[in-house]
Amino acid sequence: MSFKTRPLASTIGMEVVGLDLSEPLDDATLAEVKTLFNNNGILLFRDQDLTEEQHIALSRRFGPLQSHVLKSYLKSDHPEILVVSNILDDQGRPIGIGDAGQLWHSDTSYIAEPCHCSLLYAREIPKPDGDRTYGDTAFASLIAAFEALSPDIQAKIADKRAVHSYEAYYVRRQKEGSKRPSLTKEQQKEAPDVIHPVVRPHPITGRKALFVNESYSVRVLDMEPAESEALLNELIAFGISDRFVYRHKWRKGDLILWDNWATQHLAIADYTLPQRRLMHRTTVLAR
Ligand code: SIN
Repeated sequence: MSFKTRPLASTIGMEVVGLDLSEPLDDATLAEVKTLFNNNGILLFRDQDLTEEQHIALSRRFGPLQSHVLKSYLKSDHPEILVVSNILDDQGRPIGIGDAGQLWHSDTSYIAEPCHCSLLYAREIPKPDGDRTYGDTAFASLIAAFEALSPDIQAKIADKRAVHSYEAYYVRRQKEGSKRPSLTKEQQKEAPDVIHPVVRPHPITGRKALFVNESYSVRVLDMEPAESEALLNELIAFGISDRFVYRHKWRKGDLILWDNWATQHLAIADYTLPQRRLMHRTTVLAR
């Protein structure tokens, strides 16, 4: 199978042109795609027409799949798929997570072994207004961010570790007006606070990533609270500087594969019903 590539931005992302993902990729092509992925953090495939089964089968080629902690937003017939959507069913209930990813984050950095990658497939996208699109997603390279830090800051954070907390994220989102119910005791048990190095070598490439994000990183260990907060704020703001970011304007049929060990992302919430957005996400475990 042959394909072409096109860079998406200077420090992150590649578009792959000419592959039909509804067909199983042969092993040689898959290996090429994986190399491209490891080097670029996100891959975009446009104009795909995938059934849920094909989306899942493709995702499995990258590793075993996660079943998300928010069980009510998994497809009942395909629990590997997490529904991200603002659409309501006939009885006015949300069919998916309506406010997923509206702060910068790497998926599941709040678990001990964060998931490797995610595959988000656009099934329905709000209609653009001329050039004005809605429901874009921004992606930032954690590796480019680390590499651009000054040597002094790199040395200062070399051995630091940070706490990542799903529960703290929930509490914060609720304070900001999110309608999500509190995590149940069971969900809290499934996602206890975890600790990660602030500089996390990518498990495949070994390249160092600035592994903190505004959603889940709550404090740096062995620092006074004020000092920890100042450092986290500084690193988080630096990590989302324009030069590390690619902003994707979705079209129906786009599939983006992103590396949670090398990138973070942000869903831009600038649309509301009757504008409808329906995305299906699969998430590939670390192993
Ligand atoms: C997510 O963070 O998984 C959702 C991203 C999006 O809906 O753009």
